Amino acid sequence: MKILDSVIFITGANRGLGLAFAREALRRGAKKVYAGVRNPTDTEVHGITQVKLDVTDRATAEAAATQCSDTTILVNNAGIARLTSSTLDPSMLDATRDIFETNFYGLISVSQAFAPVLARNGGGAIINVLSDAVWFSRPLLAAYSASKSAAWSFTNALRIELRVQKTAVLGLHVSFMDTDMTHGFEMKKNLPQAVAAAAFDGVEANAEELLIDEFTREVKQSLSSEQPLYLDPPEI
Ligand SMILES: NC(=O)c1ccc[n+]([C@@H]2O[C@H](COP(=O)([O-])OP(=O)(O)OC[C@H]3O[C@@H](n4cnc5c(N)ncnc54)[C@H](OP(=O)(O)O)[C@@H]3O)[C@@H](O)[C@H]2O)c1
Repeated sequence: MKILDSVIFITGANRGLGLAFAREALRRGAKKVYAGVRNPTDTEVHGITQVKLDVTDRATAEAAATQCSDTTILVNNAGIARLTSSTLDPSMLDATRDIFETNFYGLISVSQAFAPVLARNGGGAIINVLSDAVWFSRPLLAAYSASKSAAWSFTNALRIELRVQKTAVLGLHVSFMDTDMTHGFEMKKNLPQAVAAAAFDGVEANAEELLIDEFTREVKQSLSSEQPLYLDPPEI
């Protein structure tokens, strides 16, 4: 499916990868770009229409789907990360519930709200922003990794079901990106603009899964090896 002339709805599009998706969509000639944001600042910012959306609030997801009934591509991008000091820390439970509300239940909720819209518009596509962390975990990011693994699992089920209505579902796996989420961490980071561009290339090539960088490919490849990376992942 082409990005040119498509109508794209992106969750969490006021900054980071979401904003990069919005800009890349405009650059490729999308007919309309909706930015689902928690706190709209204006209705229209640089050709991008802001729509109120908190992915943890089902009512705003339904309202956004009703308002943006011409959407042909949904990007489930909104996400949060919380560091957990130890898997044995009692705060791990609250941190996990908190992260799952956004990264897992939020993704389900928005997908459910928009799936009928995409069906009515001919099928279209969904991009689910996942992570290399679906295939390994560290104590520091245990809750985050679990939420992304769960989102990957849901993505795989959703893909099968939505084939009937001709909606392509792309799982996007990426390692660290240079956004607010990784602010203060020194490591090799992907540029969000390049990730958004690769994701749209993937949609145009009808890809179902995209591994953006070398490390992500290594992680997945190692799963069936004698020493899978999840047994001893590198330190951050
Ligand atoms: N950065 C990385 O290293 C990395 C690596 C792999 C995957 N990812 C994934 O990439 C996606 C984008 O992350 P990012 O790096 O761009 O992070 P970011 O810079 O922290 O941006 C996160 C975006 O999600 C929005 N958001 C958070 N909770 C929301 C909610 N309940 N409802 C609606 N919007 C919400 C934020 O809105 P507010 O401004 O209102 O907070 C913000 O626009 C996430 O799914 C993340 O898990 C990131």
